Amino acid sequence: MVPVLTRRSAMAGALAALLAPGSRQAAANAPPALRDLAAAKGILYGSCVQGAQLAAEDDFTALVLRECAAIVPENEMKWQWMSHRPDEEDFSIPDRIVDFATRYRLALRGHNLLWYWRTPDWFKALPRGQSAESAMVRRVTEMCRRYRGRVFCWDVVNEPIDVETGRADALRKTVFLDEIGPDYLDLAHRAAREADPAASLVVNEYGIVYDTPAAEQKRTAVLRLLERMKRNATPVDALGVQAHLDIGGDPFSPPKFRRFLADVAALGLDIQITELDATDERAPAEIAARDGLVADAYARFLDAALDEPALGVVVTWGLSDRHSWIVRHECNAQGWRKDGLPSRPLPFDAALARKRAWTALAAAFRAAPPRPPGKWAAPALALHHARR
Ligand code: XIL
Repeated sequence: MVPVLTRRSAMAGALAALLAPGSRQAAANAPPALRDLAAAKGILYGSCVQGAQLAAEDDFTALVLRECAAIVPENEMKWQWMSHRPDEEDFSIPDRIVDFATRYRLALRGHNLLWYWRTPDWFKALPRGQSAESAMVRRVTEMCRRYRGRVFCWDVVNEPIDVETGRADALRKTVFLDEIGPDYLDLAHRAAREADPAASLVVNEYGIVYDTPAAEQKRTAVLRLLERMKRNATPVDALGVQAHLDIGGDPFSPPKFRRFLADVAALGLDIQITELDATDERAPAEIAARDGLVADAYARFLDAALDEPALGVVVTWGLSDRHSWIVRHECNAQGWRKDGLPSRPLPFDAALARKRAWTALAAAFRAAPPRPPGKWAAPALALHHARR
């Protein structure tokens, strides 16, 4: 235990020195960490990371340890990353991040068990029916068993809804739907619960934030899905709202979004913000103006979201602009800047200086109503010790 703490404070010390070279006084006056501001209200704050970003144990790693109480593997748990042959998974890929979380006592979100977009080719080639169902259940069961006690929640099926298909249940047309049928979601959730009864099971969805007819339809479809799952006694504990914001795009209606969260909470479910960031392709080049717009988007969104007490987890999809899928142009091309300037989607810039988005997050946590003590932050963090 002692070496862990020593190492964490050594890293934090290194970071303070980096931000305030030669000035002890400045280090002592350093702003609080987001993890502490969130925890003061019973909220768990974290970021996605990649194993390779942590391997160097550099200033970025120190920043993650300073600011985050939770981490999420950005890609390493995705089935396609782990498996290239039928029923063979390379657990060493996620293990590195899981071990990091354990070593530094960070809560760990499991992301994700099934995602149509990152499903191995061999699975897509399986015959319909039984063999596909057993391969899916096996994947879910193995992941949940292996990381039992170290992962506090799982995104079981990522992005299950697509309102464009015209199906009454609005289920996305995926390989799982094709090969197993509309019950695949319930089967996956049951397998997850059986393999790790303590992990929270999350339905994680995008495109449900803005005030557009398509987003409104999708919110309704998500609610109907969650209601059906509850009615069928399918184990489900939370809705994950991805929250990839878009500056200068669609309008945002705080009351409509707020009402949606209340409807989800009324089903007895918790809510997590799972992938907060902001594309800035429509914002001006000038950095102060751009950072101001990104911060405003964070603030407006978070003020509405954090007003809902069932929302206890906030995760940004990265911590610093040094490592972001938007900056790397791995997001949809409509999120890329046309002038070729690097985007600035996250709370810290690429040199790890705080941006106004950081200030917006800090202010939102400070203003948030307190959550029931011990419901979120503390239990997720205690998991590593209690169940290992
Ligand atoms: C993204 C990663 O950030 C990228 O590195 C990768 O190339 C594609 O996936 N919704 C999700 C995340 O649930 O898993 C996605 O992550 C972003 C959109």
